[in-house]
Order: sequence, then C-alpha cells, then structure tokens
Amino acid sequence: MSLSKREREAILDDILDVTLMFPSNLVNIISSKYSISKQTVYKYINKLVEANKIEFSETKKGRVYSLKDKSFSFKLKPGNLQEDLVWVEKIKPILPSIKKNVYDICSYGFTEILNNAIDHAESTEIYVLMEYSPRTLQFIIRDNGIGIFKKIQDLLNLTDPRHAILELAKGKLTSDPTNHSGEGIFFTSRAFDKFVIFSGDLTFASQNSHDWLFEGTFSKKGTAVIMIIDINSNKNISQIFDEYTDKETQGFNKTIIPVNLIKYEGMELISRSQAKRLINRFDKFQEVVLDFKGIEVIGQAFADELFRVFKNSNPQIHMEFINENDNVKKMINHVLNSNNN
Ligand SMILES: Nc1ncnc2c1ncn2[C@@H]1O[C@H](COP(=O)(O)OP(=O)(O)OP(=O)(O)O)[C@@H](O)[C@H]1O
Ligand SMILES: [Mg+2]
Repeated sequence: MSLSKREREAILDDILDVTLMFPSNLVNIISSKYSISKQTVYKYINKLVEANKIEFSETKKGRVYSLKDKSFSFKLKPGNLQEDLVWVEKIKPILPSIKKNVYDICSYGFTEILNNAIDHAESTEIYVLMEYSPRTLQFIIRDNGIGIFKKIQDLLNLTDPRHAILELAKGKLTSDPTNHSGEGIFFTSRAFDKFVIFSGDLTFASQNSHDWLFEGTFSKKGTAVIMIIDINSNKNISQIFDEYTDKETQGFNKTIIPVNLIKYEGMELISRSQAKRLINRFDKFQEVVLDFKGIEVIGQAFADELFRVFKNSNPQIHMEFINENDNVKKMINHVLNSNNN
C-alpha cells in the first residue's frame, strides 16, 4: 500500500506524540495503528532522527525514544535593558523556524514579561531560558525582585495574597498607571497554551483560558513566569486582542473571570464579602463574563450581591455567566426573579 505525502506527514507528526507517551513502545504502536511493517516504522523514525527531532538510547529492554529538546539560557542585568532588543539580538537568532502566528505570540509574550521584570520587579538579575522540542516552545523569565503577588497585595491593600491572583486574572491591573495599562499578563496568559507564574508560596496557572491557583510550591525570591506554546498552534494574537476590545474605540473593555479563583480550598461561595471581592474593579470594564467552571454551588447571599445588588447599582456594566451547572443556574435565576417581583 503506498501512502500519500499528506498521510506520510501525518504519521511523522504522530510519531512525535507517541514518543512522548510511549517512549519504549513506539515502533509497535505506530506499526499496529497504521497497519505498516516495523521496517517501515524504522524508516520514519530514522527520518526524524536525521532531522534532529527525536533521539534514542539503547537499554537492556530495547530502544527508548525521546524528543530532542534544545535549550538556551542566559542572565541579564535590568539596568537600561530594552526588551525588544533582547528579543531581536538574543532570541531571534536561536529560534527554530516557526509559523508566523506562533512567532507573533512568542515575541509579544516574551517582550511583555521581560518588560515586567525590568519595570516592576526591582530585581538585580533576570534569568531567561528558551527551550524547544519538535512539539513545543517554552520561555522562562525569572527575576529575584519583590515578587508579583506581594507587590499587588501591597498595592491594593489586600488582606490575603491569594486575592492578588484574582485581581491579576481580571486584567487592567497596574501599579504604574502613568507608564502602563495592565494588559501584558492578561493577553500573554491567553495567547500561550500554558502560562504559569510562581512567586512566594503561590502559583497562578492558566491553560487554554482556564485559570487556577496553587499554594506552597515556590520559595525562591522574586517571580518566575513560564510560557509554553504548541509549535502547531493556530492561535492568533490579533484575534485574541479583538475578543476583549471594543471594535470602535479599540479599548480593552471586556474580561472573563474564572470564579474558581476566589474559592480557596474547602470554602464554598456563600458570602456577600466573597462576591464583593469578585466585583472589585468590575467598573473598569463594560462587559464582564463570569466563568463558573468547577463551581458546584453558590449561596443565596453571594448570588444576590452579584446578580441583584451590584447589577442594580451598575446597570451600565453588562454581566454574563458561562459554564454554570444546574445548581448555580437555579440560584442565579432565583435572585434574578426576586429582583423582578
Ligand atoms: N516580575 C514582576 N515583579 C513584580 N511585580 C510584577 C511583575 N510583573 C508584573 N508585576 C505587577 O503586576 C502588574 C500587572 O502586570 P501587567 O504586565 O499585566 O501590566 P503592566 O505591566 O502594569 O501594564 P502593561 O503590561 O500594559 O504595560 C504590574 O503593574 C506590576 O504591579
Ligand atoms: Mg506589563
């Protein structure tokens, strides 16, 4: 059976995925999945080895395959550093050839996050790592400064540093409104497939536009940001901007807020004060979408504060909700209906 060029390319591509999942059983799996001889599978594998995409080691139990990663790292002194020059002089020359849309996301995200480390961190050193495999491109930018969550906690006088993550996820948050607009992290976290910030004892992770908070993982001083994108990603940075900006004014006027960021371990969403924390700075936006993914139930006081009290006093803000389960929907309808009576 002879395969078309497209079919052969699909098999080569799949071998990369299977290498990640079944490094010691690659040949058998590909052979049975595509009904091709093991000899043919070896031909494909040899091509990928020659192209420097995968490698293998010989063990007693046979070959173990892995994707061939390349990583580059360097240190920078913030001083008069300019993030766009770092991109052009240090990253661009070592970047593999990638699609334009992926390149645009990488150059945007890298320069935004490096700019943050230069402008906001009060750091004496910045550490940069770029790593690529045939599947993904990854950037890490780490500083040894004051720490992003601590900085936001102090700025907004928050009693709990975990609230800083919620505020960051909302967007339009800046400690330096004269020179900045609070967009970098919001858009970078949505453009990359995975976006993680480690600082102090807290971690903020965003994957495919869903955000989480973890505790107790990072003890080093400063802030570390990890950005990962699939080399075949079809995301487009201007489409992401369009999603959250006003068509006429081009202003950043819409946000999507993952409600699970206020639900700390073991706590239910029941109180007015939790709702008030969620509502904080909503007035910076014209449209607020509340994402209830992962929320099992909400209490009456929480729903009432959000969907009746706040809505009535801020009719100009359009509020929507998504990913709500039946329990949550019932409670929202309950307070909306009592509003109409
Ligand atoms: N590495 C860091 N160390 C300490 N604080 C940080 C760091 N990165 C960001 N921050 C804080 O987080 C806020 C939000 O960052 P973000 O990049 O979203 O907006 P911005 O830099 O203020 O504005 P813009 O990105 O639009 O220029 C910053 O204003 C700053 O207070
Ligand atoms: Mg920024």
